[in-house]
Amino acid sequence: MFFEESQLLKGLPSQFFATLVQKVNQKIAAGNDVINLGQGNPDQPTFDYIVKALQKEAAKPQNHKYSQFRGMHSLKQAAADFYQKHYQVKLDPEKEIAILGGSKIGLVELPWALMNTGENLLLPDPGYPDYLSGVALGKVNYSTFPLKKENNFLPDYAEIPAADAQKAKFIYLNYPNNPTGAVVNREFWAETVAFAQKYQLGVVSDFAYGALGFEGYKNPSFLQAPGAKEVGVEFYTFSKTFNMAGWRIAFAAGNASMIEAINLIQDHLFVSVFPAIQAAGVTALTAADEEKEVARLVAIYEERRNAFIKAAAQIGWKAFVPGGTFYAWMPVPEGYTSESFADICLEKANVAVAPGRGFGARGDGYVRIGLLVSPARLIEAVERIGKLNLFEK
Ligand SMILES: Cc1ncc(COP(=O)(O)O)c(C=O)c1O
Repeated sequence: MFFEESQLLKGLPSQFFATLVQKVNQKIAAGNDVINLGQGNPDQPTFDYIVKALQKEAAKPQNHKYSQFRGMHSLKQAAADFYQKHYQVKLDPEKEIAILGGSKIGLVELPWALMNTGENLLLPDPGYPDYLSGVALGKVNYSTFPLKKENNFLPDYAEIPAADAQKAKFIYLNYPNNPTGAVVNREFWAETVAFAQKYQLGVVSDFAYGALGFEGYKNPSFLQAPGAKEVGVEFYTFSKTFNMAGWRIAFAAGNASMIEAINLIQDHLFVSVFPAIQAAGVTALTAADEEKEVARLVAIYEERRNAFIKAAAQIGWKAFVPGGTFYAWMPVPEGYTSESFADICLEKANVAVAPGRGFGARGDGYVRIGLLVSPARLIEAVERIGKLNLFEK
């Protein structure tokens, strides 16, 4: 018997990067030495002190039972303390924090939990593709606002058409930004709160790369802006700060009514995260080594960024220098689209890059480079691309 997918599933956006992954895997299977810069998966292991905590917690029988609904209080308290310590933001652990099995699920379920069919969302272009999965599952509409190079890939609120802002119920923002590597300052978050108040819309700050700022830059949290909790929430994931992408753990923090809606939908979908992972999450956030380990990780990415940008400049490939994240957003040469350039890099240079088109129409002049291999491999990748002679020096 063949069972047809529901209309809801059929309405989901196609997974743009699935074909890229297939092509890369075919190349590797054929014996080629492919340098894969197309992904966003942290390559370093989870910090040792966190792995050790999980080993201990996994052995405790009380952690083998169902988790408490809505997650463990100790983790919510640790998340609140973490925000107090790093951002001087005070949060009520029970009312203003929700535990999530990764921030992806929170970002995708938010429209479902807080919007009605046909209501509108404002999304960045380029942006993290999974926001559109939330649009489809929530059966909501969306309009985009451009992140332009001339504005350092920040939105220009004055340029967002009033009609789009008026009808929007929420805006999604992501700084440090995937895919561009752009970062923002505290004034930007203050402007964001003013924009939200003016149009009475909610803010969803995706702070996935919050810990990753270069040259000593400490990325500000949206929640640091006065009035932020009145208008929105922030998603914080363990995936990038602590190299815990496979563990699936994150939290949302901020506006109590939004947190309650997120908790409520989760009551119906999940019984929260494996308790041992939550307990190890407490250790991740509170251990004495936390800051030292994160600083070590940031230094690794910064060394890679510098090596890549320098090598790229030598072949005439000019970068927008990322202020954070582990990505570089690179323009494609004259005469290429993001896909045709990604294809030639893979075919002729055995280098996989992510075509910008996968992040939205405005991504088309770019490819995203994941700084997730060693400086030597990054330099080799640039040299291979340099041999194609596509850039003017
Ligand atoms: C911008 C952005 N937001 C959210 C996520 C999801 O992170 P996770 O579900 O691992 O918390 C990612 C992952 O790559 C991301 O790049």
